[in-house]
Amino acid sequence: MKGKVTIAGAKNAALPILASTLLGGGDCVLSNLPHVRDVTTMIKLLGLLGVRNHVEKESVLLNASEATSTEAPYELVKTMRASVLVLGPLLARFGKATVSLPGGCAIGTRSVNLHLKGLMALGADIQLEHGYIRAQASRLKGNQITLDLPTVTGTENLMMAGCLAEGTTTIHNAAKEPEIVDLAMFLINRGGKITGAGTDVIVIEGVKELHGAAHTVMPDRVEAGTYLMAAAITGGDVCVDRCIPGHLRTVLNKLQEAGSTIEEKEKAVRLCGPDRLKPLEVRTMVYPGFPTDLQAQMMALMSVADGISVISETIFESRFLHVPELQRMGASIEVDGPHAVIKGVPKLTGAPVMASDLRASAGLVLAGLAAEGQTSVSRVYHLDRGYERLEEKLQALGGAVQRVAGSV
Ligand code: EPZ
Repeated sequence: MKGKVTIAGAKNAALPILASTLLGGGDCVLSNLPHVRDVTTMIKLLGLLGVRNHVEKESVLLNASEATSTEAPYELVKTMRASVLVLGPLLARFGKATVSLPGGCAIGTRSVNLHLKGLMALGADIQLEHGYIRAQASRLKGNQITLDLPTVTGTENLMMAGCLAEGTTTIHNAAKEPEIVDLAMFLINRGGKITGAGTDVIVIEGVKELHGAAHTVMPDRVEAGTYLMAAAITGGDVCVDRCIPGHLRTVLNKLQEAGSTIEEKEKAVRLCGPDRLKPLEVRTMVYPGFPTDLQAQMMALMSVADGISVISETIFESRFLHVPELQRMGASIEVDGPHAVIKGVPKLTGAPVMASDLRASAGLVLAGLAAEGQTSVSRVYHLDRGYERLEEKLQALGGAVQRVAGSV
């Protein structure tokens, strides 16, 4: 793979930022939203809740001043778990919310118990009935919240709820992902009073209301990491433009350890892949550790590394669904609980494989780019949730990739 690829806005920053428009009236003008299915789904959900949106060429204007409904229906929530991000804003703005419990998904049960525990600490009455979360609160009251684990969307839900609560909310053991900092910046620009975003203690002073603001969504670090790995697995030379190298520190470090040559610029990274990757030990961790969202992609790389690698998945309980698919391509992988031991083979061979979740499908595409012969990935709708124009961007880098008409 050779050439330059431009990174889109971060899906996992765009989703909470979109949900947060429910917190107040006024025009919110969002730029650099990625053109991916999850963003379209979120805008549709906001429309159902009464948030007006006006799509421009380079931005989307949203206005929640006439938002009325407080119910997020199962039909929509089941297609995107991140819909749970409307829970905090609806409760904070309207004093009530009915949100379908997001089901599990391929990578795990994905409980939201910590979101609910935190909202109850802010005075919400939460009932679970018929698969719905029914939340009520005359007015949320600030409180000290300590999260059992640094849940990303849990931290986001509680930070948004705290913006309009009475008094001060402190979130201890908060997630530190860059997407949380991006959301906090947007909320602060709208009059929110937040300090500590990006650290494990976030303090939010409740205010009466939030006004509108403009915001440019941060670049997608997972998309950037995926293209860097496309260069690494094919021994290519790719410049990933409009990304933030500082968001990828542990990923760049591991790719360097595997033998890649990396050149960093302020908003770009250039990676030249080696002829043969060296084996690694990788453990997924919360930010700033190695991101779980790049674990499947890294496993594709290690499948053809020169030796034995170990990848440990510590965030989700079943995020190895790409393993049997990689094995169909000739990978030699043994899974033992949260650990996958990968014995690198000289070459993978193309095969028909099936995507199971967004990031696993990206891993299969990377494997296909490096494999001998043709690989067909089915259920590519998973890819469309989080990757903007994937096949176009890979083709522009010289990848022999095409979307088969009528494929799902
Ligand atoms: C966010 O999911 C991301 N999604 C995920 O990206 C990402 O993989 C994940 O964070 C971890 O980085 C969005 O931001 C929209 P968590 P989230 O709550 O917030 C458990 C992608 O591919 N947990 O940090 O749902 C949970 O089961 C997606 O873009 C509880 O037990 O992840 C998991 O094992 C996939 N109770 C762990 O914590 C809770 O209340 C981390 O989950 C919440 C979480």
